[in-house]
Amino acid sequence: MRQVEKSPLKKESLKAEVYDMLPLRTPHNKILEVKKLPTLPEIAYRLLDLLSRGPEISQLEEVIRYDQSLTAKILSVANSAYFGAQKEIHSLERAIVLLGIKEVSEIAFSICVLSVFKPLRSVRNFDPRNFWLHSIATGITARIIAQALDAKDEDKFFTMGLLHDIGRVLLLHLFPEKFEEILLHQEKSGRLLLAEEMELGFAHTWIGRWLLKRWGLPESLVLAVRFHHNPFYKEQFLFEPAVIKLADMTVHNLNLVELPGGQKGDPGPLLYKLGLTEDLYQAILEHLSVVRESLSEAWSYVI
Ligand SMILES: [Fe+2]
Ligand SMILES: [Fe+2]
Repeated sequence: MRQVEKSPLKKESLKAEVYDMLPLRTPHNKILEVKKLPTLPEIAYRLLDLLSRGPEISQLEEVIRYDQSLTAKILSVANSAYFGAQKEIHSLERAIVLLGIKEVSEIAFSICVLSVFKPLRSVRNFDPRNFWLHSIATGITARIIAQALDAKDEDKFFTMGLLHDIGRVLLLHLFPEKFEEILLHQEKSGRLLLAEEMELGFAHTWIGRWLLKRWGLPESLVLAVRFHHNPFYKEQFLFEPAVIKLADMTVHNLNLVELPGGQKGDPGPLLYKLGLTEDLYQAILEHLSVVRESLSEAWSYVI
């Protein structure tokens, strides 16, 4: 299932792929200038693979332990106030026992994704640190919403939330000047997707989908990224993208992280569509307000 793109894209196959996927075939579309997409580290695939099979502690430790930098970063997150460990955690095994297999896998996967875009330049009004904090917060919120809804495979919602705006960071990576123009345009119009389409010919949802397809990630992740702003497709309501949209909106509404371009809004219609009660949603909001401070402290060394 995996396709890892390690060499520069061949021009003709790139064009064919782009034309196949792009609904708006504008001749000056900036996507045709892309020569190479970033790759995801091998260890990230092994983590996803393990997660889908419900690993043993020793299996997870085996995948991570040889990567010392990754291990050190996991321990720094594990020792933060966010996880509330009573004593300092010195070993990977202890971190897995205390925090859980799923939590450590998610931390490790997040660190791998973050590493893909390093170093990332800051542009005016857009701080990459806050971008990643927003992504992690959206992942945490999406998982909590999925739990509240008793969704199956609730763990994959963290990954969907983490990756939902990966198209934005890819745009910054590929077209930093255009990215600044998009922010300016968006400040005036308040419409991010439109600003991206005007400047580049496509939105971050489209290029995010392309990247995840290139990385060979599961279709459910690809769809969540593609439809996280509009969870409707061919008159169908898409459950997973809708959860991500609600998580994203919630993180923006609470101002958990300062990030321009985020879509605040009334969660009411989504709550209704998803069947999430007001009481449960209020409980989620209270939980998120409590973890607000510890969240950025937990990730400060890693991002
Ligand atoms: Fe987005
Ligand atoms: Fe977002």
